[in-house]
Amino acid sequence: MTGKKRLNKAVFPVAGLGSRFLPATKASPKEMMPVVDKPLIQYAVEEAAAAGITDMIFVTGRNKRAIEDHFDSAWELESDLAAKGKHALLEMVRGVLPAGCRCIYIRQSEPLGLGHAVWCAQPVVGNEPFAVVLADDLVDAVRPALSQMEEVFEQEQCSVLGVENVPREQTGRYGIVSTEPGEARLGPICAIVEKPSPDAAPSTLAVVGRYIFTPGIFRHLENARAGLGGEIQLTDAIAKLLGEERVLAFRFEGQRYDCGSKLGYLQAAVQLGVKHPEIGSEFTTFLARRRV
Ligand code: G1P
Repeated sequence: MTGKKRLNKAVFPVAGLGSRFLPATKASPKEMMPVVDKPLIQYAVEEAAAAGITDMIFVTGRNKRAIEDHFDSAWELESDLAAKGKHALLEMVRGVLPAGCRCIYIRQSEPLGLGHAVWCAQPVVGNEPFAVVLADDLVDAVRPALSQMEEVFEQEQCSVLGVENVPREQTGRYGIVSTEPGEARLGPICAIVEKPSPDAAPSTLAVVGRYIFTPGIFRHLENARAGLGGEIQLTDAIAKLLGEERVLAFRFEGQRYDCGSKLGYLQAAVQLGVKHPEIGSEFTTFLARRRV
């Protein structure tokens, strides 16, 4: 028998146009939008690093250079901060990419869908398990969501999808899974469908931007055809994988914010603002006293 596989790689699909946030995203990537003082993509990379992942693979596209610059060293800024003795800021800037991690960039030259974006990472991922993290979904948790999922993967050695219950009227925004009935946080998935209407949805358990895959998913992405919206859907490849391998749905602990929507983004900003060590208490006072 072969030994247990470890999770070392994460894929961040960041080629999307961010049209839900126009005009803010006309000239800058949606993944660089800050929640308080950190861009969304940095929260995602920090979550992956906390789960022991070292190889950060970005599937990127036109107009996304700011992401590469963000995780690179910035020598002009760093030497300026050093000369002015601003050591705390210097440390912060140098620590944007967590220690021991490296970044790899791949271009997705056509917007062919999330499944296609993940497929673009195949030459770098190879025959290993890997995570997929959608930076739009920001999870505020005591123990980071991906660390919780990695623990499940470590034990079960199969694909694991992060899920949560959503209101039935929102099923059309998500991949929806059906599992064995029960209250357990973890369960084998029997079926998955992309963005079903509320009356057709098999359940209200939605996939929320955190995935751990065995490399088996690539077989189905390689042969994938366009699905919903004319795009190559990751969900369709997962549906095929279900016929061959066990795939688990895991309800992680934590609060997820859909930062791809204006409401979710503002909710995340308020929640993280209230908790922020520098401005949290003043911001809380402001919220309590403000008049509409
Ligand atoms: C994508 C996936 C969907 C998943 C969602 C999570 O949809 O296709 O299955 O539930 O992310 O955020 P998108 O939000 O890109 O339309």
